[in-house]
Amino acid sequence: MAHTIEELIPEYIRGLPAYIPGRPIEEVERELKVHAIKLASNENPIGPSPKAVEAVKKAVAESNRYPDGGTHLLRAKLARLHGVAVDQILMGLGSSEIIDLAARILLTRGKTGVTSHGSYAPFSLAIRASGAELVRMPQQEFAFDLRAIADAVVAHPETRIVYLANPNNPTGTAFGVVELQEFLRRVPADVLVVLDEAYIHYADRSHMPDSVQLFREHKNLLILRTFSKVYGLAGLRVGYAIGDTPVLEAMNRLRTPFNLTGVSQAAAIAALDDAEHVNRSIQENAIERARLTKGVSALGLRPVRSHSNFIFIDIGPEAQELCDELLHEGVIVRPLGWMGFPEAMRVSVGVAAENDKLLAVMGRLLGKRAGKSEMASR
Ligand SMILES: Cc1ncc(COP(=O)(O)O)c(C=O)c1O
Repeated sequence: MAHTIEELIPEYIRGLPAYIPGRPIEEVERELKVHAIKLASNENPIGPSPKAVEAVKKAVAESNRYPDGGTHLLRAKLARLHGVAVDQILMGLGSSEIIDLAARILLTRGKTGVTSHGSYAPFSLAIRASGAELVRMPQQEFAFDLRAIADAVVAHPETRIVYLANPNNPTGTAFGVVELQEFLRRVPADVLVVLDEAYIHYADRSHMPDSVQLFREHKNLLILRTFSKVYGLAGLRVGYAIGDTPVLEAMNRLRTPFNLTGVSQAAAIAALDDAEHVNRSIQENAIERARLTKGVSALGLRPVRSHSNFIFIDIGPEAQELCDELLHEGVIVRPLGWMGFPEAMRVSVGVAAENDKLLAVMGRLLGKRAGKSEMASR
């Protein structure tokens, strides 16, 4: 045999870093023998809508049947909600599946995909996994630099796709309507602009773009939304895209057949009907986010103003160590070295009791450190 199979896997796939998810509560509790809280994956800490839970119980009884592979009811409901046609909606196994599909329909060796440094890692992974060149532009003050990204697109005529997240993960910053309009005017109409709005419900609404309105003028816009955040259904894996029908049709041909289970579809439909749960999730997040931001600032740390359900905290060289210490105290947060920020951590906004625990443990750990360095300097 001339080669092993491993040797025949293209270098651009062998060299890919694996996506690192937040550590599950059970794993941490088993390993470290502590009671743990998880503030690491930007989930809805309140839980799913009770209406979604009821719908799941009913739908599970039909699990001997394949689900509706075309997700008709759910897509029709979303089309009404956004004021678009049903064939302008594509459902995905989380928005994660669509991030990947978008790269697969457009990129190949010799093409380019553009995004920002310090953004959601699967954007870069999707570009690299296609064999295309990845171009990442630096951020400005932890936010997307849309002008620099547009410059990069213009400078690389073989660009086929751009990934943006608004608000951004992991920094929590957001860009406004004026910046996005200017960006869309500059980017050629044959470059697909993937606008990931996973956290859009949590953003300060006053200056945010109405992306669906912009899509009416710019058919190269692909808007991504998810049920994993404000709808509280991260475990059921439901995401969707709003986009131009031919683009969605191409992705539809590549997606996994029956990608959404019947249980997931039923839960998502019920969640859309529970506006009260969505509003409560947004309001409680806003209150707790403000309290958490104030609390970490009072500890002498530097949080970045957040438009999402998590807070990016600029810590300094001891960021990773502090995350490890928090983990050993049963508080799971996200170190960000692997996302390009070795001196920062990301903390999801939890319910009040979880945030209290985080602030208390962090205060204690920072106090100990301050005590140690004072002793050392004597
Ligand atoms: C910016 C962004 N996009 C997409 C996702 C993935 O969402 P889903 O659960 O729908 O795959 C996340 C998850 O954290 C995210 O932060």
